[in-house]
Amino acid sequence: MDASKSNRYLEAIGIDVWVRRAGGPLGALEVPDRAQVGLATAEPAPALAPVSADVADGWQALRTEILGCTKCSLHKTRTQGVVGVGPQRTDWLVIGEAPGAEEDRRGEPFVGRAGHLLDAMLRAIGLDRGTSVYIANVLKSRPPNNRDPKPEEVAACLPYLMRQIALLQPRLMLAVGRIAAQNLLSTDLSLSRLRGKVHYFGELNTPLIVTYHPAYLLRTPADKRKAWEDLKFARGVFRQLTDRVGIDGNLS
Ligand code: URA
Repeated sequence: MDASKSNRYLEAIGIDVWVRRAGGPLGALEVPDRAQVGLATAEPAPALAPVSADVADGWQALRTEILGCTKCSLHKTRTQGVVGVGPQRTDWLVIGEAPGAEEDRRGEPFVGRAGHLLDAMLRAIGLDRGTSVYIANVLKSRPPNNRDPKPEEVAACLPYLMRQIALLQPRLMLAVGRIAAQNLLSTDLSLSRLRGKVHYFGELNTPLIVTYHPAYLLRTPADKRKAWEDLKFARGVFRQLTDRVGIDGNLS
């Protein structure tokens, strides 16, 4: 990728673009611009591929079940179930933790400030909400006061995610945030230990990569650079997968 394109992506995520000061001491850096969370110019999104009637019916049935689900107590406090957003079959699946207040109100994942940052992060690697990536959460119902999901809630909800994966058949999953990653991988390892590797999820052994939650990045912008490394890693792994080249599982 050329430097100006790369810089546009970094600016879109809100990473300051640093350049070497001409003639200055080696390593001296200056900031030419304040970076903003804004729109990146990515490759145009591909047209949506038609899905079979079976897949469309599968989604319809799943949606009906999620919206009517009473398997855990969260149904008593939610406004509505939040199924996910995106094409009915797609190569990329992004998984967050659970709907927040805005998502609960609007019925779509990642629609608040964190969602805008997530969209910019995805656009930086050429992905577009609604057309080339499916976005969902581990939990389909909002936990009151945005508390962490309880194990029994995750256990009740995971079968829905499994069905989403069976319908989508993604080539790569991106887990955003510690809670999503730990629940998907059944581990209590820290996020920093989970980053930079290819994990495998579920019966289909779907490759899964872990990065920071956009809400965390809004609070801790210094870690956006590490998130950008994760995104480039994910994009590289995806290219290897689609080129059928082996994956070494390490961050280059
Ligand atoms: N955080 C999440 O993990 N998911 C959402 O949908 C919104 C915020």
